[in-house]
Amino acid sequence: MRLVFLGPPGAGKGTQAKRLVEALGVIHVSTGDMLRAAVKAGTEMGVAAKRHMDAGGLVPDDVVVGIVADRLREDDAQAGVLLDGFPRTIPQAEALDAILDGDGTPLDTVVLLEVPDELIVERITGRRTDPETGAIYHLTFDPPPEAVADRLVQRDDDTEPKVRTRLAAYHAQTAPLVPYYAAQGKLSRVNGVGPMDGVTERLLAALKG
Ligand code: AP5
Repeated sequence: MRLVFLGPPGAGKGTQAKRLVEALGVIHVSTGDMLRAAVKAGTEMGVAAKRHMDAGGLVPDDVVVGIVADRLREDDAQAGVLLDGFPRTIPQAEALDAILDGDGTPLDTVVLLEVPDELIVERITGRRTDPETGAIYHLTFDPPPEAVADRLVQRDDDTEPKVRTRLAAYHAQTAPLVPYYAAQGKLSRVNGVGPMDGVTERLLAALKG
């Protein structure tokens, strides 16, 4: 299965991807996580990407397409992939179609996780991540266990002004993917509002349907 999770920043793509990959028998490929790993490692690509990420904008298409193409060639990606945060522009979507069609494994489904803008700021500013396990928490909606609370970190781009810039980038550059995939008959819309377990159930139902 080749699957894309589409949706605004903070829609719950990462949270739900972590819950679903095992059940779906796919690996989780998050371009945000890969870019943050490159920033942390201080690679040339990471240093260049950081400027765009810190500004709340998108990293150039050729950079992101390159890292996804490399990841899709690895052995563990052959059984199936859940792409989280990629594609994010029409040129990225066209590049992905070309890669997957060329491999004879076309994209199966694109799930649009729908959450209104007014809920996004609250979700993102309350997000905390465990650097040791990668677990995602929310100070109010999914409070961390006390044992890990001291080591949690907040992402550099999770401040309110940067969230608003990221939302603007989403509407300008990523939202056009909705009609793009609808025209291919691959788009499935899932309501991302409400308790996380309910969102997981709706996602599984949409993927089975
Ligand atoms: P990326 O890391 O992909 O960030 P994003 O798309 O902005 O998405 P987020 O990770 O912020 O949110 P999410 O939907 O995963 O939500 P989460 O599950 O954590 O990208 C970061 C940057 O990298 C980009 O800005 C760009 O610069 C660059 N980049 C990445 N990919 C790129 C690409 N393809 N092209 C170019 N540049 C790229 O949930 C958020 C919070 O809400 C958490 O605290 C969670 O606990 C909580 N939550 C989740 N579900 C619920 C619920 N149902 N109810 C209440 N709270 C909930």
